[in-house]
Amino acid sequence: MSKFWSQVVRELEPYVPGEQPQIDGLIKLNTNESPYPPSPEVIKLMTHDAIDRLRLYPDPNSKKLKNTIANYYDVTAEQVFVGNGSDEVLALLFMAFFQQSKPLLFPDISYSFYPVYCKLFGIEYKTPTLRDDFTINFDDYASENGGIIFPNPNAPTAIGKPLAEIEALLQKNTESVVVVDEAYIDFGGETAISLVDKYPNLLVVQTLSKSRSLAGMRVGFAVGNVDLITALDRVKNSFNSYPLDRLAEAATIAAFEDDAYFKACRDKIIATREWTVKQLEALGFNVLPSQANFVFVKPSKNNAAELAQKLREHKILVRYFGAARINEFLRITIGTDEQMQRMVEVLKSA
Ligand SMILES: Cc1ncc(COP(=O)(O)O)c(C=O)c1O
Repeated sequence: MSKFWSQVVRELEPYVPGEQPQIDGLIKLNTNESPYPPSPEVIKLMTHDAIDRLRLYPDPNSKKLKNTIANYYDVTAEQVFVGNGSDEVLALLFMAFFQQSKPLLFPDISYSFYPVYCKLFGIEYKTPTLRDDFTINFDDYASENGGIIFPNPNAPTAIGKPLAEIEALLQKNTESVVVVDEAYIDFGGETAISLVDKYPNLLVVQTLSKSRSLAGMRVGFAVGNVDLITALDRVKNSFNSYPLDRLAEAATIAAFEDDAYFKACRDKIIATREWTVKQLEALGFNVLPSQANFVFVKPSKNNAAELAQKLREHKILVRYFGAARINEFLRITIGTDEQMQRMVEVLKSA
């Protein structure tokens, strides 16, 4: 605390991201990154030529990238917004849509950045409780609200919602913006992008950080009605005209174009997840049904925090939150087969 801090800074409760330690041989299963490298097409782009062009500003509207995303999802480029990681897209949309006189609604157990943005932007919010089985109950979202946001699949539970239930929510909730945060949708869920033409208040947010192996590039995007995208552009152009650098834009285009590589990595991760779930269940863990590239698990005999520490001693990093209702759980990112085999070996001896 310093006398130079503004009142806003004094009152902030910043988000704490998962650790990024520099430890040789570390098996890193704590921040839901892909264990596989980006597409070889992305790697080919990192030429001297591309680096030389870094002296020039990028296209502030990332037009080529928007066209690529629009083609991929069968929408128009005007329905696409891109940002520096989906965290930035989320921050801008909280400002654009959720500063309302009624409270924003999101699940009590959910992405822990949401309350941080609320605090930053002075947004009132309510957090309906997940059911005992950790699923979202959309009946709890029927009250008047200044917006609704939830991840699908939810984080950190990994549990997905069927598209039909999301559509039923949209049919009932027409007076505020509904945001579906699809950071993990590629690992088994069904995207709500197909609904954006039907529901002008729906915004779908995705990231290149998980299923497309580009967490280090920081690229996220939103798809929705043109009016919502215009609002996001207005906020973005009042904050940072160039959120995506030239390499990030080119890499994202290449990642979308190499669909075969994307699908191969995604399928491998899903297969490894299914193997891991079986192993963990055989060890007595309670594993919540996962549609994501991570599993949320409760050990049967060990204390979760102690188990995370034990794994760490074996250079395996997983995420322990220690928050109310989930302090007996660990979130484990799905790595390669070899990494998961190693983790299971260590758990057997724990
Ligand atoms: C639910 C959810 N949304 C958004 C993000 C942000 O992803 P990024 O900023 O890397 O695009 C994450 C990252 O872990 C997440 O779990």
